Amino acid sequence: MKHLLSLEALSGADLRAILNRVADFKRNRTTHAKPLLGQTWALIFSKSSTRTRVSFEVGLRELGANVMFLNASDIQLGRGEPIKDTARVLGRMIHGAVIRTFAQSDVVDFAAYAKIPTVNALTDDEHPCQILTDIFTFEEQRGESITGKTVTFVGDAACNVPVSWLWAAARLGFTLRLAAPKAYWPDEAIVKRASAGSALPWSGYSADQVVERLSIGAGMLELLTDLNLAARQADLLYTDVWVSMGKESESTQRLKELTGYQINADLVKLAKPNALVMHCLPAYRGKEIDEATVEAHADTIFTEAENRLHTQKAIVAWLVE
Ligand code: CP
Ligand code: NVA
Repeated sequence: MKHLLSLEALSGADLRAILNRVADFKRNRTTHAKPLLGQTWALIFSKSSTRTRVSFEVGLRELGANVMFLNASDIQLGRGEPIKDTARVLGRMIHGAVIRTFAQSDVVDFAAYAKIPTVNALTDDEHPCQILTDIFTFEEQRGESITGKTVTFVGDAACNVPVSWLWAAARLGFTLRLAAPKAYWPDEAIVKRASAGSALPWSGYSADQVVERLSIGAGMLELLTDLNLAARQADLLYTDVWVSMGKESESTQRLKELTGYQINADLVKLAKPNALVMHCLPAYRGKEIDEATVEAHADTIFTEAENRLHTQKAIVAWLVE
């Protein structure tokens, strides 16, 4: 049985198998097959959501399923019922689950105990549906493969979104530059795992290094503190919120330490002339991106948001094929 629990767990061939189906789902939105007819899927969310919730509810219905939205705090899970018990109950009643939560181990355990196709709709560790969508959007907008290109992420480079980007770079073969203060680089254990067996093995973050260049699978990872250096000749500039869900108590410190790690017109000028600017949304103007840049690139950014629908249909169709 297939699941989408992380990009780390997928091969480059898996990623391409999903990406290859998205354009068809987008083109034939009302006429494509309905592989979920007669099924019931649940969305189980412990965190807020606009895009993910709506795109999965609509997409699963368009694939033929009945859909129920379960706010985790409304079911017994919110009162402490273990995830493995919740999973064993739902697994006997429904056909698939889409889960947004904190711990990655919760989606892994749910999939193991429910024994139904399970999708990670964002955990503290990864946001795989978002990054698959972003890659589809890049290739759709540019009309060429992301393989061999340079993606620059600016901001909190330790959170779920850049970590999923890191695994995508390793699997699909592009360069990912992460520009952030060192405390906001991805966890060393992740970088070590990604660079295992590579020509440039991971040696640990050292005090004076501002740039690390590592081979990760089929791709490259560059860790920088200088965002201007990171933006040079990039094909895609990308950012995400400075304060992820669950990190609200660190808000003051994060706003202080991440100040300046912003996509704005000056940074865009350093990238390639045809570079795209993307944001997974929600966007906090004046923080990780400025208002003028959101509006100048709104067509790309909101096409990216729409593409969540088409990409997630491709993900689910791949899971149940
Ligand atoms: N980008 C994203 O996942 O948005 P939501 O939090 O609104 O679902
Ligand atoms: N890193 C953000 C992504 C929101 C879609 C968060 O986890 O809140």
